Amino acid sequence: SLPKVFISRKIPEKARTLIASLCDAVLWNKDEPPLREEYLQKVKGINGLFCLLTDKIDAELLDAAGPDLKVVSTMSVGYDHIDVKECAKRNILVGYTPGILTKATAELTVALLLATSRRLKEGMQAVENGKWGTWKPMWMCGQGLDEATVGIVGMGRIGHTVAHCLKPFGVAKFLYSGRTQKPEAEAELNAEFVDLDQLLSQSDFVIACCALTPQTAGMFNASAFQKMKKTAVFVNSSRGNIVNQEDLLVALESGEIGAAGLDVTVPEPLPTDSPLLKLSNCVVLPHIGSATFDTREAMAVLAAQNLIAGLKGEKLPCQIHS
Ligand code: GLV
Ligand code: GLV
Repeated sequence: SLPKVFISRKIPEKARTLIASLCDAVLWNKDEPPLREEYLQKVKGINGLFCLLTDKIDAELLDAAGPDLKVVSTMSVGYDHIDVKECAKRNILVGYTPGILTKATAELTVALLLATSRRLKEGMQAVENGKWGTWKPMWMCGQGLDEATVGIVGMGRIGHTVAHCLKPFGVAKFLYSGRTQKPEAEAELNAEFVDLDQLLSQSDFVIACCALTPQTAGMFNASAFQKMKKTAVFVNSSRGNIVNQEDLLVALESGEIGAAGLDVTVPEPLPTDSPLLKLSNCVVLPHIGSATFDTREAMAVLAAQNLIAGLKGEKLPCQIHS
């Protein structure tokens, strides 16, 4: 009999067809996730799970699935929502989708950076609200990238690609911090490996491209924002939890930093009454880093391939090792 699979959301057709051709698949055919209770019911007795980054895959859920679960496949590069250790304990393979979303996510990070530094949201609102009086020499000025120092926190695939995209704007210097030194980034971008404090104090732009881990959780806090330049533009396209959002609000309100662009928040969705949304120097996007048509399809297909490989007991194309 075919392996039993639960697909926890509506996904691109190509991936769905691929899974359906080889599995007995139950699809939660909605954009909204199942409630937790329903989720726990749906996974009972499955062999494979296709999940998203908004699904919490913990010991409770793995227990609810039972001993026949062989593979958990997430349609995301981030996997902070999965308890990888609990999966390893149960010999459950875990797949993710790195690489294929790098360009789309870097592109969105650049768009967010420019929207923030050049005040695009404020400018559009001024046009729409009749606040565009006339061409004024000192109106709507922002920070330019030409001659700037750009700090990348987490020079992984995405961080490197963001820096590569920003270089032609005339960036004078790239700094980066993280766990490991990256020879390719140093060769291509002349990037300098520095400690975090140095990066924060010297950068005109601070771009967070690091994964959420116990080490990075809350790392952008009051003390970090105090170290940044008063004009600094902070951009986060990784995970909301790397930022202490209350501290960020204070830093933006008090002028401790210049502006912030966030593609990720806590919680998601960010409530519409969040004080961050009242600030003219904060741009918030709804976690759309990888959202191009082609990238989302490729992510879903890769996640399907990971799932199928795991069900066959083969090596996953992209496997997370705990
Ligand atoms: C998006 O945030 C992802 O992890 O793929
Ligand atoms: C992180 O996952 C990266 O690709 O940089």
